[in-house]
Amino acid sequence: MKPPVVLTRGKYSFLVDRFEGKLHTHHGIINLEELRGKDYGDEVRTHLGVKYRIAPFNPADFFRHFKRGATPIMPKDIGAIIAYTGLSPDSLIFDAGTGSGILAAYLAYFNKYGEVVTVEKRPDFAKIARENFRTAGLKNIHQIVGDALAVADSLKVEFDLITLDMKDDVAFIRKAKEILKPGGHIVVYNPYIEAAREVYLEMERRGFKELEAFELLRVDLDIKRVGTRTSTKVWHTGYLVFGRYLG
Ligand SMILES: C[S@@+](CC[C@H](N)C(=O)[O-])C[C@H]1O[C@@H](n2cnc3c(N)ncnc32)[C@H](O)[C@@H]1O
Repeated sequence: MKPPVVLTRGKYSFLVDRFEGKLHTHHGIINLEELRGKDYGDEVRTHLGVKYRIAPFNPADFFRHFKRGATPIMPKDIGAIIAYTGLSPDSLIFDAGTGSGILAAYLAYFNKYGEVVTVEKRPDFAKIARENFRTAGLKNIHQIVGDALAVADSLKVEFDLITLDMKDDVAFIRKAKEILKPGGHIVVYNPYIEAAREVYLEMERRGFKELEAFELLRVDLDIKRVGTRTSTKVWHTGYLVFGRYLG
């Protein structure tokens, strides 16, 4: 067993990316050297004797455990991006802005034989994302620090998929056709409904096809001894607008 691994106990979990030093948990301190020689499913104890179980690190942990700079896209929306664009594992993807790199990481993981070019204008966020990609062992991501519109102007390649989660998304739609392969998809995520409408109308004006705009609501269930009911908390995150360039 090699790092990274996840130490988990009920609702608490910690990403461990090296088997040295000490981890401060809610239940005491774990000496991480004790993880050497152990296996997934084994337990390790804090200095107070509380047990944590060792689990393998997997893509679900990108969202749970990556360090955060900018607000990331949530897994429910990432799942829709992958399914509605029919992402195949040998795609060339343009992603902007990188933010914490959570969307870029999922895209890279499910695009094993392809590559993700991700662009972020803030060097401090790009640095956080770079550390996250390193922790996850993702090697098929190329990071560019700069303005996505300027970067797109300088590119000579065509992409299968463009994902935008940044300011200036409407302006980017004007450029998108120049860097998309015929048949390629574009998806824009924006937390504001007015912006999503502008993006949709701009895609329509620019001749993109198969347009769809929607919001996905996650509604949790409160499962209690007396019964199960819908939680009153609704998870609004953002609006997704999809389009396709058909040449
Ligand atoms: C909401 S965050 C993206 C989160 C990311 N999708 C994730 O899952 O972690 C938006 C990011 O876009 C960046 N950004 C905004 N305008 C940009 C531009 N024109 N070019 C590149 N990055 C930009 C911001 O600095 C910010 O980090």
